[in-house]
Amino acid sequence: MKPDMSNNLTESNRKAWNASRYDAWVAAFGGVGIEAQRIVSNPEHPLRRILPYLGALEGKRICSVQGSHGRVAVALAVLGAKVQVIDFSEENRRFAVEMAEAANVSIDYAVCDILEAESLDLPHKFDSLVLELGILHYHEDIELFFTAMRGLVQDGGVLFLNEFHPVQRKLFWTGGLQDYFSDKLIEADVPNPDVEGASLGKCQYRFWTMGEVLTAVIKSGFTIVRLDEHPDGSNSAIPGTFTLLAEA
Ligand SMILES: C[S@@+](CC[C@H](N)C(=O)[O-])C[C@H]1O[C@@H](n2cnc3c(N)ncnc32)[C@H](O)[C@@H]1O
Repeated sequence: MKPDMSNNLTESNRKAWNASRYDAWVAAFGGVGIEAQRIVSNPEHPLRRILPYLGALEGKRICSVQGSHGRVAVALAVLGAKVQVIDFSEENRRFAVEMAEAANVSIDYAVCDILEAESLDLPHKFDSLVLELGILHYHEDIELFFTAMRGLVQDGGVLFLNEFHPVQRKLFWTGGLQDYFSDKLIEADVPNPDVEGASLGKCQYRFWTMGEVLTAVIKSGFTIVRLDEHPDGSNSAIPGTFTLLAEA
């Protein structure tokens, strides 16, 4: 029988994202209150990759997909959006909710596997979905993932994805030139804001080619309206990230 790798992947990633995560964010940002004040005084900064694409925010219903520590969510709420985060880390939720309180804004934060978001029975669909930097490689079935995204957004709504570029992640990430077309899972450390600190745990990553990403977006019912590629921070000769805008 074929092993259920999706489940293994999600479970090991969930464990890694819950290990000491609250303390890691407190150490990285200097504390919940300090980071809240930083965001209130300059909400545009955590949103710098998003704002040029999102348009007016006041009253807009936005889902921060896998929104982690909630900095993007809190900044969006400070600028008047109604924000829902969905992420499977309780430790992330704790940091985000405390930070929202300290910033005097309200956000909703559901701790849930994003592929099971339907089970949350949310009261409405969203005007916009915001996905930023480190989303797709947590999923082993990219079409299932974008189908779940289509289920969250209302007709005419927008999916905004700012993500690591497949050329950077698949070809160059682990040093030397790698196989762009590899479909293997890669085990590596969960992101640690303290780059010199001990590992907080291991994740299983599945990196996707640009063709796989775009095909999955289209097949799940979105129309791609824009795709921008941005140079890598340490090697401007290769793409480091991309921004995709798609309409439902
Ligand atoms: C690198 S972070 C994304 C960056 C984040 N958007 C930000 O603004 O910093 C990846 C997030 O995905 C979450 N995650 C990974 N797999 C998930 C899943 N299957 N369902 C829900 N959340 C997931 C993790 O808990 C983590 O917070």
